Amino acid sequence: MKETSVLCLLFLISLLSCTTNQARLTVSPSYSQFFKDQSVYLSCEEDDSSAGWTLRRNTSKQQRTQCGDGWGTSAAPTCNIAVLPLDSGVYWCESREGPISNMVNLTVTGGSVILQSPVLPVMEGDDVTLLCKTKTTPSNLPAAFYKDGSLIRKQPTGHMTIQHVSRSDEGLYKCDISGHGESPSSWITVTGEDTTTPPPTSTSPPVLSVLSCVRLVCVVVLLVLLVLLVRRYVHKKPEDFKPEPDVVYSSLK
Ligand SMILES: *[C@@H]1O[C@H](CO)[C@@H](O)[C@H](O)[C@H]1NC(C)=O
Ligand SMILES: *[C@@H]1O[C@H](CO)[C@@H](O)[C@H](O)[C@H]1NC(C)=O
Repeated sequence: MKETSVLCLLFLISLLSCTTNQARLTVSPSYSQFFKDQSVYLSCEEDDSSAGWTLRRNTSKQQRTQCGDGWGTSAAPTCNIAVLPLDSGVYWCESREGPISNMVNLTVTGGSVILQSPVLPVMEGDDVTLLCKTKTTPSNLPAAFYKDGSLIRKQPTGHMTIQHVSRSDEGLYKCDISGHGESPSSWITVTGEDTTTPPPTSTSPPVLSVLSCVRLVCVVVLLVLLVLLVRRYVHKKPEDFKPEPDVVYSSLK
């Protein structure tokens, strides 16, 4: 009996998770920092196109405004912005029913140095390359990299690779190129879950295949649970019927 109710519960939970529409916000190019006037594309990639997701943001000036409403050019599901420093803020996708996607922090600078760091969480164990870039010169100047305010490395080529990232690499990063200045700071988030695949050029096929993969896993889990449930009930029946023949035989005697 107990096992059956546990199975029922699992069945319900997976049914619920399978019917919840999820959207992912992707950014192209997939970085956290931009120079003023760069073109940035933001897309709400969704599992079920009927959900009607909108891209929203909070900046220092306005809260929860949507793409096309005073900022960005909307061509659903993508929003294009020629970014200005005032566009710095938190961006996310939101459906009418309430669920929201992952959030991303974008920082736009009027200065001349940026740190190109991944905008989406990076997977534990992956290698991450950070690039310290100036607006005016080719990007191979020596740079200093900082994490949480402390100098971690000086690199002659402006690149820094963190190999096999772990949770301890999470933090606030910035860089500095002498004679040009300092970049803004950006968070690098490390995740252990396999739900985030940062596509470097943000084409939709990899995202779509991840989503259909999630759906496939859902369907398989549902099927397995169904089979287990049916087996439980089939097994039960002979036990329930056994006493009856006994009664019949004894009354015959
Ligand atoms: C956006 O701003 C509103 C109002 O200040 C706040 O309630 C909400 O939590 C913010 N959302 C994000 C994602 O920061
Ligand atoms: C955005 O940045 C703020 C601080 O600047 C940080 O607390 C928050 O966790 C960041 N959010 C994301 C989604 O990276």
